[in-house]
Amino acid sequence: MLRPVEPEDAATLAAILAEPEVSRWWGRYDVERVRSELIGGGHSEVFVIEVDDQVVGSVQYFEEPAPGYRHASIDLFIHPEWHGKGLGTDAVRTVARHLIHDRGHHRLAIDPAVTNEKAIRAYQRVGFKPVGVMRSYERGPDGEWHDCLLMDLLAADLH
Ligand SMILES: CC(C)(COP(=O)(O)OP(=O)(O)OC[C@H]1O[C@@H](n2cnc3c(N)ncnc32)[C@H](O)[C@@H]1OP(=O)(O)O)[C@@H](O)C(=O)NCCC(=O)NCCS
Repeated sequence: MLRPVEPEDAATLAAILAEPEVSRWWGRYDVERVRSELIGGGHSEVFVIEVDDQVVGSVQYFEEPAPGYRHASIDLFIHPEWHGKGLGTDAVRTVARHLIHDRGHHRLAIDPAVTNEKAIRAYQRVGFKPVGVMRSYERGPDGEWHDCLLMDLLAADLH
């Protein structure tokens, strides 16, 4: 289940982000950074992912407001204990449906690291297609710039 993030989720989300298999892709977050960027950030819509009332991750979307470039982008993270069970695919598909059917978007984007095969595989299952490599796009926790894969999905691609 997805529900809007609340201030009380800060410690749980910071603990999930501190897991090495999450921080290697998301970088370092403490409770304060979660509060300022995920809960109070203002630019993205942020949801927690719940399984049986337990918060196991978060999914967010950002909408480009310029009318001539209107689209939305998605990002997410899940506690490693819950990886590989289909939750990431389900969360991205649910948000993609909302953005296309309720928010009226014709195009969505997502930009995993080129080495994040698990993420790329999950996004492909929802219908995202690789567009191309964005070179030295994202600075990793190691301080180095890394390549990311731009993937997009048009409304007809969603499955
Ligand atoms: C990326 C992430 C959101 C995916 O969520 P998930 O619930 O683990 O993904 P799913 O179980 O829905 O699907 C994963 C798919 O990748 C496959 N997979 C699992 N491990 C893999 C690996 N090491 N290499 C390639 N594919 C892999 C799974 O088999 C599954 O595909 P299949 O069902 O067709 O076999 C989650 O792993 C995560 O939070 N990772 C850490 C943070 C992160 O990378 N966020 C994304 C940043 S862009």
